[in-house]
Amino acid sequence: MTTPTPETLARVRALRAELAHHNHRYHVLDAPEIGDDAYDALFRELESLEQLHPVLITPDSPTRRVGAAPLEGFAKVVHRAPMLSIDTVADVAEFDRRVREGLGEAEVEYAAEPKIDGVAVSLIYERGLLVCVATRGDGREGEEVTAQARTIPSLPLRLLGEGHPELLEARGEVFMTLAAFDAYNARALETGEKTFANPRNAAAGSLRQLDPRITAQRPLKLYCHGVGEVRAEGWPTRHDQVMALFRDWGLPTCPDAEVVVGVEGCRDYYERLRARRDQLSYEIDGMVFKVNVLAWRERLGFVARAPRWASACKFPSREAFTTVEAIDVQVGRTGALTPVARLQPVGVGGVTVTNATLHNFEELYRKDVRAGDTVRVRRAGDVIPEVVEVVLEKRPADALPVVTPASCPVCGGAVAKPEGEVVIRCIEGFFCPAQRKEAVRHFASRRAMNIEGLGEKLVEALFAGGLIGDVADLYRLHGMSERVAGLERMGEKSAENLLAAIEESRGRDLERFLFALGIREVGEATAASLARHFGTIEALMAASEAELQGAPEVGPVAAGRVWAFFRAPGSQALLERLLAEPATGWHRAAARAVAIGHPLAGATVVLTGTLTAWTRQEAKARLEALGAKVSGSLSKRTRYLIVGEAPGSKLTQARELGVEILDETAMIALVQGAG
Ligand code: IVH
Repeated sequence: MTTPTPETLARVRALRAELAHHNHRYHVLDAPEIGDDAYDALFRELESLEQLHPVLITPDSPTRRVGAAPLEGFAKVVHRAPMLSIDTVADVAEFDRRVREGLGEAEVEYAAEPKIDGVAVSLIYERGLLVCVATRGDGREGEEVTAQARTIPSLPLRLLGEGHPELLEARGEVFMTLAAFDAYNARALETGEKTFANPRNAAAGSLRQLDPRITAQRPLKLYCHGVGEVRAEGWPTRHDQVMALFRDWGLPTCPDAEVVVGVEGCRDYYERLRARRDQLSYEIDGMVFKVNVLAWRERLGFVARAPRWASACKFPSREAFTTVEAIDVQVGRTGALTPVARLQPVGVGGVTVTNATLHNFEELYRKDVRAGDTVRVRRAGDVIPEVVEVVLEKRPADALPVVTPASCPVCGGAVAKPEGEVVIRCIEGFFCPAQRKEAVRHFASRRAMNIEGLGEKLVEALFAGGLIGDVADLYRLHGMSERVAGLERMGEKSAENLLAAIEESRGRDLERFLFALGIREVGEATAASLARHFGTIEALMAASEAELQGAPEVGPVAAGRVWAFFRAPGSQALLERLLAEPATGWHRAAARAVAIGHPLAGATVVLTGTLTAWTRQEAKARLEALGAKVSGSLSKRTRYLIVGEAPGSKLTQARELGVEILDETAMIALVQGAG
């Protein structure tokens, strides 16, 4: 061990400042200036200097976020100022009236914010250094979770910038984004760990881990929304100014907060936020209005355990309890048997829910859902409602467990559960009416053959009326317009439109046709790649598994599925009929086959900034037609970054990564040079 030189000390300080800056750019502003590799290099340099000179280690060093040993228990913390709750009001007008009367003001400005459904925390900073984080607890006394909270990447261990208060107690909400919550649960299911019922439980459960190393693995975020105690010289007079100051100091705040005026402003914000609720990345249970002028808050004071200057408006809950009337089994396009809970209708998040998916039988047995059970259902965003858990205390004595189907509930045919898969499937393929129906629906869907007007109900009616039995039959319907018109809720005009839409779909190219066939593992990208690589359906049908894998981005699994599809008797018979149809476009790929050796073939390309000659979509299509893969994020494997006007941080990142940079003109030359 050597004594650090002043130069080493300066370097260590500079590295910490730089790492804190980039950490903030990445985790708070979502606008990184450098790539992961460059960040890691700085981090490792700091780590090795600290290893060499342990005297230089400080608690706010970015290397010290995780590292504290597991605790025996949580210490109690008495809050400096109580952490209050907020009164809920049914009508903001009532709140606004009380505020105006209390203040004797004609019009009041409010800070309007989403009410984040997470865990309330208090963060104590002494002269900019984070010293204590505590949960709300009962409002008077909470639990210390400093070591756990330090692992939240967006939480500054030391405030950025200058002019920090002698003491600052920031208050906020620790939460998990919906995407992180879903990903966490999906992984937990795979590894057999406990899943969480909702993002709030996930955040609370993750923060209250005695071992901070476990918290560190959970994707937690934080938004600050207020102040407990503050000892500072000169403090803003309005809440929105405090939030701006917080941002300067690197404390994350909610990007969806606004300042609004009067009851009209509140109502307008409420409506806008409610409309956007499903698009927000985090869960909210309502919104909060707070008097913006801090001195006015003092004048209004408190009642019981809530301030008079704030109120919450709740949104409909995303969760509800109801009973399961029955558990049915649906058969999907690929034969997957999906258990579905038929529910006593219940309002969840503003819509009435009557069905909830149970995903598959493994999941059904894990949750042990039975007909007659009382269940907690959840509907987040525009996803399918889900049974979260059973309330076992309310289970009727005669509720029997569901029996795994031994045969397909639709066609009575054989079912199979391939080794290592959780899904049980009907293996009858095109012989199973359920699968044929789903196949037609998928075939007609917008991204497939795009047959306008041919939705679920109509497919059902065409099958029920015996007019079609599979997708090939669609192209024979033109001789039966009267029977089509005679279907329930049809009529001459709609029949005419449907038949015209079907005729029009004859023009679709091989890319769409291949996707429309609904071969497992063949999404739009794989279908397009295969179509372009082989050029014709005949070449594709004749290809061996190894040859199929020769198409860009086509792996062994997809290749195996495609090969097997073209050899199954059911699909062969179907294709024979489809390929015998006159005047169709689906024999050939639309895009020219990839020019062998073209620099774009198989290359990953990222676009940034505004393009002028082509739209982004056009550029994407042209690049893809030459075999390039257009991606949204840069990595070392990116071949080109194409830079339009006003490029973002990707340009810096590309330089760091050593990715070749092309301007728009160079891109056009490259594409058109293809001949
Ligand atoms: S202000 C006295 N703002 O809601 C008012 N609270 O009942 C102090 N919450 O657990 C709270 N989002 O942590 C405020 N934008 C927001 C909030 C928010 C969520 C939580 C808060 C507390 C509860 C208050």
